[in-house]
Amino acid sequence: MLEQILKKFRDEPVEFVRKILHAEPDEWQADALNALARRPRIAIRSGHGVGKTALESWAICWFLFTRPFCKVPCTAPTRDQVNNILWSEISKWLKRSELLTELFEWQKTKICFRAQPERWAALAKSAARPENMAGFHEEHLLFVLDEASGIEDGIFEAIEGALTTSDAKLLICGNPTRNSGFFKRAFFEDRELYATFKVSSADSGRVANEYCKRLIKQYGADSDVVRVRVLGEFPKTEADGLIALELVEAATNREPVYSGELVIGVDVARFGNDETVIQPRIGNSALKFESYRRTDLMTTVGKIVAKTAELMKKFSLGRATVNVDDDGVGGGVTDRLREVFGEKNLRVEVNGCHNGGKARDPHYANWATESWFALRDRFVSGEITLPKDEVLTAQLATRKYRLTSLDKLILEEKSAYKKRAGRSPDRADALVLAFAPTATVSSPPSFPLVNSYWR
Ligand SMILES: Nc1ncnc2c1ncn2[C@@H]1O[C@H](COP(=O)(O)OP(=O)(O)OP(=O)(O)O)[C@@H](O)[C@H]1O
Ligand SMILES: [Mg+2]
Repeated sequence: MLEQILKKFRDEPVEFVRKILHAEPDEWQADALNALARRPRIAIRSGHGVGKTALESWAICWFLFTRPFCKVPCTAPTRDQVNNILWSEISKWLKRSELLTELFEWQKTKICFRAQPERWAALAKSAARPENMAGFHEEHLLFVLDEASGIEDGIFEAIEGALTTSDAKLLICGNPTRNSGFFKRAFFEDRELYATFKVSSADSGRVANEYCKRLIKQYGADSDVVRVRVLGEFPKTEADGLIALELVEAATNREPVYSGELVIGVDVARFGNDETVIQPRIGNSALKFESYRRTDLMTTVGKIVAKTAELMKKFSLGRATVNVDDDGVGGGVTDRLREVFGEKNLRVEVNGCHNGGKARDPHYANWATESWFALRDRFVSGEITLPKDEVLTAQLATRKYRLTSLDKLILEEKSAYKKRAGRSPDRADALVLAFAPTATVSSPPSFPLVNSYWR
């Protein structure tokens, strides 16, 4: 009886999904499932949310159900993606079928045939080491790689050797985040080996129209973010510009409004020709910055303290914040500033900021990227004003960003910018520090808990 059911669905994954899992595949999902029944390798690239992980879950259930003693090794770039996202999606669909739950047991990293748990199972594997996906020699094998663009080639090479038996299959799905690697090659150099699919979020009934429109508005229709997250296209080879020149120019043409908090961003020079830049702002309006070359750190501290005291007095402010780039030589400046402000009884919060530090929002690869994007939002909303300075304008309007293979936004590295632009982006970095979301700084603010300290 069971044998008959098994045979019935062996080459009919769409019927299996309908009759056993009680789901109705979207048209592209049905096409991909049919292709999986006929072909050994399937590659699917798409924007977000179109139903790739659901499709993989169905494929895994179908394979397990119709191939006695099969193995289904599954992986993804991060443990969370495979252990939580993929595995919980499978659980969601397994539960839909009494028959499947009777036959198969769902465990945290394994789904196995109850009567033969060792020899007949789907396995959640980490992509940290290629060995994890090597050494499978069963007759019926299905490898599933979710978010495959972010998986290193070593994993793929470990699998490829096993794809020789007649019922060994490979299903790779993902957002096309990376312009190299086996996932990219599947759609280009190696495409004759694969049945390939491309699905745009804009064409999928599962993705809110608002999502696509918002990304197009925010990043531009031809940006990599829209290509990768909406259209399912690989990124361009050129990185995208972060802040458009016209937005910077508009900010220099607006009238400043000096109301709100005083925050001073300080980018400390590391190399001979770099500038140390002290950039104050009041509320949304940047004041004229001061810049120095070849000053020692203690002189820099003196200048920051003098500037802060001067502006607190000028604008009658009882307190201020100083955000200092704390990497490398900046660290000494931060510590000394805290001491000197304390000695002078000035109520100034000093934050040491780390460009490579963790971002609050996991969509950004690091703190610097998040801060640059936060600044960019102020240009986009039209709330920021800037004094005219061609060097600052140029530095702001020429910094680039791209997507990482894990689909995070990352600012062009400073060294790469320097090489390209011929100088360090010190003035722009100081402005970013002045407008930085300070809650993300890694050093604690230095308020001693004694009230009299501030008088
Ligand atoms: N044909 C379908 N019928 C019902 N629900 C579906 C179908 N396809 C997908 N879904 C559901 O839609 C939601 C989004 O699908 P899924 O997570 O598979 O998309 P994805 O392409 O993997 O997204 P991401 O790009 O974010 O990884 C999930 O809750 C999934 O269960
Ligand atoms: Mg997914």
